Amino acid sequence: MNILITGANGQLGNEMRVGHKTLQDNYIFTDVAELDITSATAVEEFIAREAVDVVVNCAAYTAVDNAEEDETMADKINHQAVANLAEACFKHNATLIHISTDYVFGGDGCVPYTEEDATSPLGAYGRTKLAGEQAIVKAGCRHIIIRTAWLYSEFGRNFCKTMRALTASKPSLKVVFDQVGSPTYAADLANAIIYIIESRQLDKVGIYHYTNEGVCSWYDFAVEIAHQSGNTECKIEPCHSEEFPTKASRPHYSVLDKTKIKSVFGITIPHWQSSLSKCIENLNE
Ligand SMILES: NC(=O)c1ccc[n+]([C@@H]2O[C@H](COP(=O)([O-])OP(=O)(O)OC[C@H]3O[C@@H](n4cnc5c(N)ncnc54)[C@H](OP(=O)(O)O)[C@@H]3O)[C@@H](O)[C@H]2O)c1
Repeated sequence: MNILITGANGQLGNEMRVGHKTLQDNYIFTDVAELDITSATAVEEFIAREAVDVVVNCAAYTAVDNAEEDETMADKINHQAVANLAEACFKHNATLIHISTDYVFGGDGCVPYTEEDATSPLGAYGRTKLAGEQAIVKAGCRHIIIRTAWLYSEFGRNFCKTMRALTASKPSLKVVFDQVGSPTYAADLANAIIYIIESRQLDKVGIYHYTNEGVCSWYDFAVEIAHQSGNTECKIEPCHSEEFPTKASRPHYSVLDKTKIKSVFGITIPHWQSSLSKCIENLNE
């Protein structure tokens, strides 16, 4: 099979590059320079020319705060470009594996969100990602939409790398404890996607949730990052979100229920602390 990866220079795209190496299928890695997904013509021509069987869309506009001031651009990439991919997949009978976000939810609950729960994004990023999901369903292509959260990896900029650097260099630090979710090591998500492709379970159409197992606040996550990095000198204090105002509101509770993806695909998901130690190990190398 020919597998097209879009946005392959991002966190998840890079982990797909790492994970695919020993596999038989033909993985084609592209980022905006090779394939700008906002161009419907380019997307359609690429999928036709390369006889693409599966598209894994790792491309996105992920700057959550910037999206508040540039929703047009966020919508172009997170919604309209996703429609381009979905329509081309429909036309050429390809499967679209698309990544979405916990930010489609409002975060005022206290029980993990299932795929059936009502969406109510708090900001522009979540709105445009939700519109992307809806465009896929409308286009009618074979699709697997995976909502994830709190993504980190060795690649790019993310909370894990930022906290690792800050706790190594600062005597003290405040981190919010009133936003609760589940961290996700992008390598684990990439491996889950690769498993779905390699085990040929592409007909199991629908929306799924994937994060690492377990629940924590950003404060707990930061404490564990510092601990596992050996940065014991930095004093980390919990604080409220109001102390760090951001342009975009964040959900206070965005834990995703992963029962469906585990039972439908037969996937085992590692706990966030064990996955964090793998990422830290890789960062140490
Ligand atoms: N990061 C998180 O915490 C998080 C949480 C929940 C869900 N997600 C979702 O998970 C997925 C992967 O996230 P990530 O953190 O790996 O994202 P990322 O690191 O920001 O990577 C996205 C990639 O897409 C590229 N891209 C942007 N516009 C494009 C275009 N028009 N055509 C082709 N490529 C384009 C970006 O290039 P440039 O860098 O040059 O723009 C970048 O290389 C996304 O769908 C995201 O919404 C992420």
